[in-house]
Amino acid sequence: MKTKKPITDIIRKRHSCRTYSTRPVEKDLKDQLEQLLADSPAGPFGSRSRFELITATDEDRDVLKDLGTYGFIKDPAGFILSAVKQSPRNLEDFGYAMERNILYATDLGLGTCWLGGSFTRSTFAEKISAKEDETLPAVASVGHMAPKMRMVEKAIRWGAGAKNRKPWKDLFFKNGFNGSLSPEDIGIWAEPLEMVRIAPSASNRQPWRIVHESTTRRFHFYLQRSKGYQTRNKILFGIADLQRVDMGIAMCHFEMTGKDLGFFGKWSFDEPNIGKLPELTSYVASWQTSQ
Ligand SMILES: Cc1cc2nc3c(=O)[nH]c(=O)nc-3n(C[C@H](O)[C@H](O)[C@H](O)COP(=O)(O)O)c2cc1C
Repeated sequence: MKTKKPITDIIRKRHSCRTYSTRPVEKDLKDQLEQLLADSPAGPFGSRSRFELITATDEDRDVLKDLGTYGFIKDPAGFILSAVKQSPRNLEDFGYAMERNILYATDLGLGTCWLGGSFTRSTFAEKISAKEDETLPAVASVGHMAPKMRMVEKAIRWGAGAKNRKPWKDLFFKNGFNGSLSPEDIGIWAEPLEMVRIAPSASNRQPWRIVHESTTRRFHFYLQRSKGYQTRNKILFGIADLQRVDMGIAMCHFEMTGKDLGFFGKWSFDEPNIGKLPELTSYVASWQTSQ
């Protein structure tokens, strides 16, 4: 489905909204969002996540409160729930499909926030009737944004450095991890890369690294893990491997931007030999361009 606004405008506009207006989501918007969720495609690795929208009416707002978001989210009108089956790249596919839904919700004028840690997994799992072979890596709150952020939201944003993003030189490379890539070097592909750079990520860690290989005209996507992050999250809080979800988000931004701007390409999954990889870095996928 085509968005109303250019995808680059939508990506630039999206930010995590943790304080909502008490106005419920109108039926027309709810219907459109439900249709989008029903049409969610499989991710680049071929697995499909199951999505459901739950929303509150004026009378039953407390139903959503009881689901539990540890005070992070105030007055959401609803949540996008998701249930994901086990497969080797299920979390990347999930990140890709959920971010697509979030961008469409943004296009409809709604605020959203990814929740991978601050939600009570068991109550949300019950709501979506998760089967034994399904997990809930993350959900997203959704609703009309409140005109003002709460103090606690400002504190959360400050804590995560939510406005900050790493510079190009730390994220994008040329023909191996030793050569840095500038927007001038890469011509029309600068905008899809910039849309990866400003994407949301768990705790704003931005684990994506991209190497452009000029001889094959491919962009290779790598995950550079934050040391100890996943082990701590999993052992202490039972949280999913969110940095893999972040990689799916990066792939979604890159592909949607490229397509919206009319540039052609497709995913491939053969790991290239580009020399030694930095510590904690592993290959995920490549985008083969034709331009
Ligand atoms: C996979 C994922 C999980 C996240 N989990 C949470 C969460 O549990 N609680 C929260 O308040 N924000 C969460 N966030 C939001 C990030 O903190 C936020 O995207 C980042 O700080 C950048 O800020 P921005 O979204 O406003 O651009 C999550 C984001 C992603 C992508």
